[in-house]
Amino acid sequence: MSKIINLKGKFFPVVGRALRWHFRHYLLRKDSPLMATLLLTNRCNLKCKMCNLWKDPKKNTLAPKVFKQAIDDLSLLGCAYVSFGGGEPMVVKDLFSYLSYAAARIPFVNMVTNGQQLDSRAVRELAKTKMDMVSISIDGLRETHDEIRGIPGSFEKAIGAIENLKRYAPGIGITVNTVISPWNVDELLELSDLIEDLGVLHKFQPIFHHPVFEGQVIQDADWQMTAPKIERLREIVRVLRRRKSVANSAYFLSSISTHFTSENRGRLFKERCKSVHFYCEVREDGRLFVCTEGMGWKGGFNLFDHTLKEVYYSLDYRKTAKRLRDCKRCQKVLPICYMEPRIAFPVTSFIKYTVIPSLFS
Ligand SMILES: C[S@@+](CC[C@H](N)C(=O)[O-])C[C@H]1O[C@@H](n2cnc3c(N)ncnc32)[C@H](O)[C@@H]1O
Ligand code: SF4
Ligand code: SF4
Repeated sequence: MSKIINLKGKFFPVVGRALRWHFRHYLLRKDSPLMATLLLTNRCNLKCKMCNLWKDPKKNTLAPKVFKQAIDDLSLLGCAYVSFGGGEPMVVKDLFSYLSYAAARIPFVNMVTNGQQLDSRAVRELAKTKMDMVSISIDGLRETHDEIRGIPGSFEKAIGAIENLKRYAPGIGITVNTVISPWNVDELLELSDLIEDLGVLHKFQPIFHHPVFEGQVIQDADWQMTAPKIERLREIVRVLRRRKSVANSAYFLSSISTHFTSENRGRLFKERCKSVHFYCEVREDGRLFVCTEGMGWKGGFNLFDHTLKEVYYSLDYRKTAKRLRDCKRCQKVLPICYMEPRIAFPVTSFIKYTVIPSLFS
C-alpha cells in the first residue's frame, strides 16, 4: 500500500487527509470516507472464468449525475483515494471525463482494468486526465492468461497496455494484479520475473467465489487448490516476499497459502473491522455500500434519492456500519482491496501489522 502511494509523489496530500481522519475519528468520534471504490459498470469485454460480474443479466453503468455528486461529496468529506473498477471501466463512454473530474478533486485516483482498450490513443487521453495509477490484470503467461480470460489475444493486449503507458503516460504509475488460482500456480514465479523486467509493481490476490446474481446463468468455474499446489504456493510466496517489485504487504503475503487451507479463519484480525469507519463503495446502479462484500452484495443505499453525504451521515448507514464492525468476511475471502487498507490503516493497525512484524522478520 505505502509502496504504491509513495510512488506517485502523492504522499503528503494523502497523509494530510489520513491525519485529518484520525483527528475526526478519535477526537470528534466522527467517521469519513478516506478511501472509496466506484464500480462504474458491470459490462465487460472479456469472459474470465473466475468472474461472475460479466454474467450478471442486469447491465448498468453509473449515471453521470450520481457520479459527479458522489465525487463532490467524497472530496468534501476528505477522501484521499478513489479506485475505479467494474466490470471493465474502459468500456464506459465518458470514462476520460470521469477520471479528469475525480483527479481534480481527489488526491489519488486509481483504475483497475483488463488493459484491452489501452492502445496508444487511449493512453494519451488517459495521461491528460492527471489520474495517478493504472492497475492491469494479468493472470498468467500468454496461453494461461488467454485461457483464464476467455478471449485469445488478451495477454498480448494487456502487455501492450503496459508498454503504451510507460511510453505515452510516464506520469501514471503502473501495477499488475494477478489472481492466484489452481490454473496459474506453476507459472507465478515466471510471471513475476516478466513483470519485474517490465519495471512495474506486482500485486497478488487469491481467487475467491464471486456471488451469483439473480437471474444469472450459472457457469461457475469449478476450482480447487490441491495439497501439492498449496505446498508449491508456500515456496513461491517465500520467494515473492523478497522481491522489490511485489507490492503486497508482508502480512498479506504470509496469509496467502494458509488462506487455501482455511487456517486464516479467525486468526488474521483480532480487533473489530475498522474499514467500516474509513471506506465506502458505490456500485454501477447507484447504490452506496459500507462494504459490498460485508453486506453480501445486497441492499445498499440509493444515491438517486439522496446524496452520498446525506446517506453517509444517515442513521441507517451508521447502523449498518456499526453492525459490520463484527463482520469476519475478510478472513474467509482475503480480498486485497479491503485487506491491504486494513493492514496499513489506521495507525494502530499499521503498527501492529506492518511495523512490529518488520522488526522480527
Ligand atoms: C472484477 S475486476 C474489474 C476490473 C477489470 N475488469 C479487471 O479485470 O481488471 C477487479 C479485479 O478483480 C479480480 N477478480 C476477478 N474475479 C476474481 C475472483 N473470483 N477472485 C479474486 N479476484 C478476482 C480481477 O482479476 C481484477 O484484478
Ligand atoms: S475480471 Fe474484469 S475483465 Fe474479467 S470478466 Fe470480470 S470484470 Fe471482466
Ligand atoms: S471484515 Fe472485510 S468484508 Fe467485512 S466489512 Fe470489514 S472489510 Fe468488509
